[in-house]
Amino acid sequence: MAQKVLFVCLGNICRSPAAEGILRHLLHQNGQAEEILCDSAGTGDYHVGELPDRRMRQAAQRRGIGLEGRARQVTLQDFHDFDLLLAMDEQNYYHLLGLDRSGKYHAKVQLVCEFCRRYPDREVPDPYYGGEAGFEYVLDLLTDACEGLLNHLRVRQNSPQSESA
Ligand code: 4NP
Repeated sequence: MAQKVLFVCLGNICRSPAAEGILRHLLHQNGQAEEILCDSAGTGDYHVGELPDRRMRQAAQRRGIGLEGRARQVTLQDFHDFDLLLAMDEQNYYHLLGLDRSGKYHAKVQLVCEFCRRYPDREVPDPYYGGEAGFEYVLDLLTDACEGLLNHLRVRQNSPQSESA
């Protein structure tokens, strides 16, 4: 069965749609589009229904990556539906943990940068109020994180433990 990954930021118009677009792009490149499903959401509701930020879309497009979807807010159902909920920064991370009051799904919630292999960053910086370079940096960081994530999920999928589960 396909593994399901949800990327989470604050507004769901910059970082998390970029992560979703990058992961989908890598999956298509690798012929793995059926194996891993991904989506994105925001902890806030300020931009619900909007397209990804134009600056983020343009920066991604320059790398041949299209960003899809409209902003939505994360829901309690997401904790049930997704295998991993990957937060862009600590604020998003603790917001998610706070929503999961029972703690039942805490193990599914991680910082996306935990999967980075080249960048030492712990958080993906919010590019919203900054310049163009901030959007490029978000794409660089998320490409590293998504490549590391794919490697991690492949290893997990191929391990004997997961086959017997
Ligand atoms: P995102 O960026 O969380 O990466 O989508 C932001 C988008 C909007 C706002 C902040 C961050 N805002 O304050 O409206």
